[in-house]
Amino acid sequence: MAVLFGIDVGGSGVKGAPVDVERGQLVAERHRIKTPRPATPGAVLDVATELAAHFDWSGPIGLALPAVVRNGVVRTAANIAPEWIGVDAASLLAERTGCPVAALNDADAAGIAEVRHGAAAGEPGVVLLLTFGTGIGSAVFADGVLLPNTELGHLEFRGGPAEHYAAARLVEEEDMDLHRWASRVSEYLHHLERLLSPDVIVVGGGISKRFDAFAAGIETEAKLVAARLRNNAGIVGAAVAAHEAVGRSKE
Ligand code: BGC
Repeated sequence: MAVLFGIDVGGSGVKGAPVDVERGQLVAERHRIKTPRPATPGAVLDVATELAAHFDWSGPIGLALPAVVRNGVVRTAANIAPEWIGVDAASLLAERTGCPVAALNDADAAGIAEVRHGAAAGEPGVVLLLTFGTGIGSAVFADGVLLPNTELGHLEFRGGPAEHYAAARLVEEEDMDLHRWASRVSEYLHHLERLLSPDVIVVGGGISKRFDAFAAGIETEAKLVAARLRNNAGIVGAAVAAHEAVGRSKE
């Protein structure tokens, strides 16, 4: 059994657990620490270090962040502190923990989890995973291969970034009717379908718990499915990505 450690940095909590990356399952109950405020790189990386220490972890770590991450370096900060831009998150966490670290975008991590072990496992063709939460995260796969950092939540749509129009935050914060939200999501998906012609669309994020309540209101030509790994998708996907990165570095 290959076990690696996954960490998912979210707006309210930073969560971590050891993951059996071959099965896509946590091997211990995850530990959650409140996201520090302000969520500066130093404060968040301290919390990530604390999570690894909580499990006495020494081995590769996958770190999922709500931002564009290229070669371990954070490149955007739509929903996180601006100080993150330019920070080499992978190297800094590796220094703090003494463990090798692979960092990636949180939606890419969730997508990896769903494509390898969840709702889109074994699906050929183009898979699009969208996480609906505070923002909209996206992950795009062709035959299981990820095109990273697609950031489709930031596509200009209806006069602003799409996530301002169709994020799940609107349902919770503005008390938007679920049917109205679903029809906004349909419009957005229609736009995405014209760009990418996905075969499968996986709906993730906290609101996917209520999939059965809104799915009928979403029109799409793709096969529409709910994410299966739910709250653990980021953790599982981060660990799987770290595993795949370690494999690549040995080639
Ligand atoms: C960020 C993405 C992230 C998504 C979900 C967006 O605002 O730009 O990088 O994946 O939120 O957290």
